[in-house]
Amino acid sequence: MEKRDYKKEFCTLMDQFAFRYSRWQVWNDFLSLSAISLANVIPTPEKEEREEKYHAILSGYREEEREIFPQMLHLVVLALSDNPEQDFLGSLYHHLELHQEQKGQFFTPYHICEFMSEIQFTDSEADEMLKERRYISVNDPACGAGAMLIAFANVARKHGINYQKHVLFVAQDIDRTAAMMCYIQMSLLGCPAIVVIGDSLAKPFPHPDNEVWCTLFYYLNHWRFASGEAGERQEDSGVAEEQGMAAVTLEHPPENVRLIEGADGQLMLCMETAS
Ligand SMILES: C[S@@+](CC[C@H](N)C(=O)[O-])C[C@H]1O[C@@H](n2cnc3c(N)ncnc32)[C@H](O)[C@@H]1O
Repeated sequence: MEKRDYKKEFCTLMDQFAFRYSRWQVWNDFLSLSAISLANVIPTPEKEEREEKYHAILSGYREEEREIFPQMLHLVVLALSDNPEQDFLGSLYHHLELHQEQKGQFFTPYHICEFMSEIQFTDSEADEMLKERRYISVNDPACGAGAMLIAFANVARKHGINYQKHVLFVAQDIDRTAAMMCYIQMSLLGCPAIVVIGDSLAKPFPHPDNEVWCTLFYYLNHWRFASGEAGERQEDSGVAEEQGMAAVTLEHPPENVRLIEGADGQLMLCMETAS
C-alpha cells in the first residue's frame, strides 16, 4: 500500500484558506484550537477562559472553513501514530516557511535530537532516579516544537522505560507558537508534560507570569510526581501544586478521549469529538 504523505495532505488543507487569511494566522489559529481541544478534556481552572477563546477564534471563519481545523488535527494524529519518532509539527513549520529566524527558530533535525538523547541516557542513572523518586524528569527550556523531548521519550522507551508513566517532561519557550506546537505533540504522544510560555532566562518556570499548559497524561500521573515516599499515593502534593498551580486529579481519561495504540504499543491520544 502506498504510504500517505501527511505533510502534503496538511498543506492541501491549509491551501483552502488561501486568499482570505494569511498562512501565519491559519497556522496559529489551528494550534490554539487544537491545544484548547486537547486541554479542555480536563476540568482545569483555565477551562472556561480557553473555551471562550476557542469560540472567538472560530467566529472569524466561515462555517465550511471551521470544519477544516479538525481535519488538520486528524492528520497530525495519524502522522504521529504512524511514526512517533519525529517532530511532525516542527518540520511542517519549517516546510511552510513560518519559522522566525530572528528568534533563532531553527529546530534541530529529529535524528540529531535522538543521537543527543541516546548519548546522554545511562541505564544506571535512570534506574537510580526511578528507584529514588519513581520518575525521571527532563527539561528543555527552549523547547521549540518539542523535538528534543520527543526524542528523549522514544529513547527512554527503547531503554525499557514507559515514558507515559515514568518521565516528567518540562518544556518552556518564549514564543507562544512554539509552545503550542510542543503542547500538542506532547499531548498526542501521551507524555506527562508541563509546557510553559515564558522567558526561561528572565522568568524560568515556576514564575507567576508563566502561562502553563499541562497535558492529560500529566494529570493522570500527577500523584506519581508527588514528593512523598516511594509507592505512596499522594493526591494533594503534585508538582503542579508545589508550583502554586491548582491541583486536578484524574483517575481515568475523560469520556470524550480515546486512547489508540500506536507503533510499539504506545498509547496515542485521540478525541471522539472536537470541543
Ligand atoms: C534553536 S530553537 C531550538 C528548539 C528545540 N529545542 C529544538 O532543538 O528543536 C530555540 C528556541 O528557543 C526559543 N527561545 C529563545 N529565547 C528564549 C528564552 N529566553 N526563553 C525561552 N525560549 C527561548 C525560541 O523561541 C526557539 O523556539
